[in-house]
Amino acid sequence: MDAVKIGLCGLGTVAGGTLRVLSRNFENISARAGCDIQIVRIGARRDNPDCDTGDIPISRDLMEVATDPEVEILVELIGGTDYAAELVLAGIANGKHIVTANKALIAERGNEIFAAAEAAGVTVAYEAAVAGGIPIIKAVREGLAANSVNWLAGIINGTGNFILTEMKEKGRSFADVLAEAQALGYAEADPTFDVEGIDAAHKLVILASIAFGMPLSFDEVYTEGIGAIETQDVDYAEELGYRIKHLGIARKSPGGIELRVHPTLIPQERLLANVNGVKNAVVVDCDAVGQTLYYGAGAGSEPTASAVLADVIDIARNVRGDQSRRVPYLSYHSHAIADQVILPIEAIQSSYYLRVSVLDRPGVLSAVASILSDAGISIEAIIQKAPRPDEDVVPVIILTNSALEQSLADAVFRLQSLDSVVGAITRIRVENLDD
Ligand code: HSE
Repeated sequence: MDAVKIGLCGLGTVAGGTLRVLSRNFENISARAGCDIQIVRIGARRDNPDCDTGDIPISRDLMEVATDPEVEILVELIGGTDYAAELVLAGIANGKHIVTANKALIAERGNEIFAAAEAAGVTVAYEAAVAGGIPIIKAVREGLAANSVNWLAGIINGTGNFILTEMKEKGRSFADVLAEAQALGYAEADPTFDVEGIDAAHKLVILASIAFGMPLSFDEVYTEGIGAIETQDVDYAEELGYRIKHLGIARKSPGGIELRVHPTLIPQERLLANVNGVKNAVVVDCDAVGQTLYYGAGAGSEPTASAVLADVIDIARNVRGDQSRRVPYLSYHSHAIADQVILPIEAIQSSYYLRVSVLDRPGVLSAVASILSDAGISIEAIIQKAPRPDEDVVPVIILTNSALEQSLADAVFRLQSLDSVVGAITRIRVENLDD
């Protein structure tokens, strides 16, 4: 199968991630697309040392990408609206499919771009435009396609969420946290887009258009930013059992569709209230499936590149049309990935919670500790409870550091054979799920 040819416009943070992920996962990506993905031309006004462009030709005039007869998919990663719209419309006029991460472009010029794409018979894909790496567009458009969406609510601006989280957790000032978000590359080129809710409004209107099948109506989104929130509001909300989150809400009401972006108090026990830092999350409430939640990295180089490349793979599959590749297992199967071994449980690494019931005698704790130490298992925490009245048995609770399952199993076997250990030892694996 011939490679699908890409023209990549822009050499910023997301383009750098796209080049890196494509190169690192080339084999997987080809397997899933059913053909190789080849970048044949880059359009960028200036170079970026963080982008490894190899020997791909670079045009300083980006229109050369939109008109290059070899290019089948134009990936627009330049940002902004006016020139980006010109470029994308030129690509469409030249029969290119479009992949973009540009939420402002889709929210503000999407109606015109979609009409042009429909007339030209090409696809415009924009998964990366909303919530970075979270596949929320595909979830709403495909996964929830059988449902009627009642409402959706999301934390869809990472910078705003980062600011609110740092204010709550560390009592830091608004300006100080914003400066850090800019330094970390989360904030928009114009950070007022983040702070005033414009970026969230762009994303909300895109989600609503898919959820409710409506045209993009960015100008009609009610938009309020987080600039007026003070640390004391965050504290008072906490005292009342709430947390302040900057939400984008789209709801089907009897009189019409609500589209609003504003700071919102939500009960602390809601999952959305516990989405912190630069993370994004969207709850979608539907008639058939009920509520589903999508959570993950809402900004950043490789998370956004993940969504860009997912769209490229989708289009490549459609363009080349090899049906067998649509069954993911078969795609894997034809590659070496299928030869991966599955680890036996003894070979995994984990931390462990152990509950050992022991006789309340001197030296028992040290016997337990030395068995773990002999097995090379270090103890992170240990709790020994007082025995209940008239009982001689005390529970000892141990949290270990990461250890090989086989070592732990051997140690548990030895512990179990101690005369001072009563009954079966309870062992539960611990997963921090942080990386
Ligand atoms: N400035 C945006 C954010 C970047 O903070 O969420 C991702 O769209």
